[in-house]
Amino acid sequence: MKRLVSAFVLFASLGCKAESNHARDMTYGFGNIEPSANLTWTPCFDDFTCSRLQVPLDYSNRTLGTTSIAFIKLAGKNATVGSPSIVIIPGGPGSSGVDLLLSSQAIVEQLFGEQYNIVSFDPRGVNNSGLVLDCFSGNTEARSTFTRLHSTGITNVSSTSLEEQFYSSSIYGEWCNNAVETVSPYSYYVTTPASVHDLVTFIEAEAELAGQSPSDAKLWCYGISYGTAVGATFASMFPDRVGRMVLDGILNTEQYYANDWRDNVDQMDAAMEKFSSLCNSAGPEACSFWGPTPANITARLDSIIHQLQNHPIPISGAENRDLPALVTYSDLKALFITTVYTPILFFPVMADILHQVELGNASALAGTFDNLGIVSSDAGLVIRCADSYRRNKLTTIEEFKSYAEYTVSKSKYIGDIYPIFLESNPLAVSSAFSKLYCG
Ligand SMILES: *[C@@H]1O[C@H](CO)[C@@H](O)[C@H](O)[C@H]1NC(C)=O
Ligand SMILES: *[C@@H]1O[C@H](CO)[C@@H](O)[C@H](O)[C@H]1NC(C)=O
Ligand SMILES: *[C@@H]1O[C@H](CO)[C@@H](O)[C@H](O)[C@H]1NC(C)=O
Ligand SMILES: *[C@@H]1O[C@H](CO)[C@@H](O)[C@H](O)[C@H]1NC(C)=O
Ligand SMILES: *[C@@H]1O[C@H](CO)[C@@H](O)[C@H](O)[C@H]1NC(C)=O
Ligand SMILES: *[C@@H]1O[C@H](CO)[C@@H](O)[C@H](O)[C@H]1NC(C)=O
Ligand SMILES: *[C@@H]1O[C@H](CO)[C@@H](O)[C@H](O)[C@H]1NC(C)=O
Repeated sequence: MKRLVSAFVLFASLGCKAESNHARDMTYGFGNIEPSANLTWTPCFDDFTCSRLQVPLDYSNRTLGTTSIAFIKLAGKNATVGSPSIVIIPGGPGSSGVDLLLSSQAIVEQLFGEQYNIVSFDPRGVNNSGLVLDCFSGNTEARSTFTRLHSTGITNVSSTSLEEQFYSSSIYGEWCNNAVETVSPYSYYVTTPASVHDLVTFIEAEAELAGQSPSDAKLWCYGISYGTAVGATFASMFPDRVGRMVLDGILNTEQYYANDWRDNVDQMDAAMEKFSSLCNSAGPEACSFWGPTPANITARLDSIIHQLQNHPIPISGAENRDLPALVTYSDLKALFITTVYTPILFFPVMADILHQVELGNASALAGTFDNLGIVSSDAGLVIRCADSYRRNKLTTIEEFKSYAEYTVSKSKYIGDIYPIFLESNPLAVSSAFSKLYCG
């Protein structure tokens, strides 16, 4: 989530630069780029080139018309026009590959070297590409009203929270279905197989541009998280089009197509326990929550969990002129899930926060749950539900309950926040939107 934030910051600063240091033909968005069936690269965001590739809305019925996919490219310093492009396939579903590449330029150059071009894209339904669906038609107030209704905290925080989460997901699903039917009838064409076909269109267009034979074009790619399900789907639909493929941070593809994200909670607790051992070996200087043994750190962590489970902490806010707040068990769980998703960045942050909590100062935890992520875009949800149509394993309250019980049994640290986390976080979207399209 931090990373997303920095992506926004980067965008903002690039935007400013556009005005003060206006280079001819340099664009800082996709709005000015004409969609084209050929790859037409336009200089963008200073170091990149951008293109909007026209693709069929429905590959099995081309009379339906076209939509466009936003691609962005970072040319390798040593690359030539014939050098392979490595396509970074973003996670989600629903994440923007354009944002990802813009915000990870430095690390990408380090990872892949300079002999390749690095490309990424916004899949169908996402941000700068076509078929973007907004279930609330731009009404942000309506969206946040719904979000409040839905954000009841962790599973089982009250005797009604599980049902509240399930039923609010159901009505959200019906609401979005209605938006597709009445406002945006082609929004169902955002499936992963369609996205995969877009990648074939891309590599063929690229081959054409380089004067090579499109029918021999192969995909070189690096898929992350949900992007590994895209990679697996690509390999199964177009096995003879696979060039090189790295799938990193595997999502169980079979489970994904059944809207069943069970394996995602595996080893979450092992990751949390890593915090204790790393903090211990880092020493008291480097880790503010240090203890003489890893077991000591885990025991103190558990005692904070136990304390918050039974007692919320009031923060008057008067001292710092912050709004008054209650720090809850859900806030602590939100810290854990954020931390295990981005451990390198967050282990030290979590150590500082836990250290302060141990001293009786919980103010850094205030708002953590609410900040996990408002449902700000429906893309991930629509993609996921269209993909699991008729295979969805989570359509009844009983199925949802048993799924939540499974995650709880599997992980003491994040099992009871995982079901709602996935729903509210655009980076890792989930299971409980069970009835959606799929009902
Ligand atoms: C979408 O793209 C625009 C312009 O490229 C960018 O400013 C914005 O941050 C992106 N938003 C998301 C959620 O990716
Ligand atoms: C686009 O591609 C088509 C088919 O390959 C070609 O005939 C046409 O000249 C190209 N147009 C541009 C503007 O490059
Ligand atoms: C293709 O789409 C058109 C327009 O919606 C429709 O009339 C036609 O029946 C479709 N063809 C097939 C083969 O589905
Ligand atoms: C770039 O190409 C030059 C000339 O072929 C070569 O000497 C150099 O090592 C290459 N640099 C990298 C980082 O690949
Ligand atoms: C952890 O270690 C500290 C320092 O030795 C000790 O004071 C504390 O009682 C220990 N806590 C637990 C829960 O073991
Ligand atoms: C409480 O913790 C916050 C953040 O961890 C810190 O900024 C603040 O100074 C602390 N307050 C006190 C009274 O130590
Ligand atoms: C919620 O709490 C009830 C009663 O303690 C328990 O039977 C149920 O299994 C819990 N559900 C989950 C999802 O943890």
